[in-house]
Amino acid sequence: MFKYNCLNPIANIGLESFTEEYQKVENLQDADAVLVRSAAMHDLDFPNSLHAIARAGAGVNNIPLEKCAEKGIVVFNTPGANANGVKELVIAGMLLASRDVIGGVNWVSTQKGNPDIAKLAEKTKNNFAGSEIRGKKLGVIGLGAIGVLVANAATHLGMEVYGYDPYVSVDAAWNLSRGIKHSKTAEEIYKECDFITIHVPLMDATKKMINEAAISMMKESVVILNFARDLLVDEEAVIQGVADGKIKKYVVDFPNPTTAGADGVIVIPHLGASTEESEDNCAIMAVKEVRDYLENGNIKNS
Ligand code: MLT
Repeated sequence: MFKYNCLNPIANIGLESFTEEYQKVENLQDADAVLVRSAAMHDLDFPNSLHAIARAGAGVNNIPLEKCAEKGIVVFNTPGANANGVKELVIAGMLLASRDVIGGVNWVSTQKGNPDIAKLAEKTKNNFAGSEIRGKKLGVIGLGAIGVLVANAATHLGMEVYGYDPYVSVDAAWNLSRGIKHSKTAEEIYKECDFITIHVPLMDATKKMINEAAISMMKESVVILNFARDLLVDEEAVIQGVADGKIKKYVVDFPNPTTAGADGVIVIPHLGASTEESEDNCAIMAVKEVRDYLENGNIKNS
């Protein structure tokens, strides 16, 4: 009987198919396979019994890939399984950066019990006026599962979408998406776009790719969205860009001490993939991959 360990909770629905042949063990040292969401695995000792790690999510930066390669441990992830959840939150992020819903809702909560709140709101609402995203230019950097979905959704909201990916041919990505009109280099995106969203994996080559030099090429009042990994962005440079009035908002789904509470920054506590549907999809895919490997020796992401 194969034994598996869950390092941090992943949706139970995926685990149902494990029930008869697999035993859940509390100790990693007894496991043939590990299912993990975002818990950091870099400091863990892996037993010789460990054959596979499945990350219920896209990013594998919480897994020591070199150590796994040395020990012959196969690492899976679940590309695309949570892409819709992330896409929906990116669109919400663009809207929150454009409409001051957060300011308005916070103001209402200060008026609890005020019988004149409706009248007062009519007088106060101009303080929370915003702008629309229709007709604005969106640059999507990284045209994988999430980037393409964001591009499509933005097109349907009437945005003009530009895309760039250093690895995927823009034409190939465009074939997956409909109605996208333009393709550009990263520099062209920096120069042209009102909103810039990043959807690339964190690697040495992409670390701090949004830095002072990139920001200096951007338009005044640009909105930057980061639902990929915080280290892709030089956040000190972004906070300076906000202070200089160059950046209107930075929307980021990874809280840390640099950005939490900073002016002009909307920080979300890593909720991109935190939907019932995304969690189920990731868990089901991760379990399927591990089963297929342990039982049939197949190594493939679904
Ligand atoms: C991902 O890499 O897909 C996300 O970080 C998933 C998650 O929220 O665990």
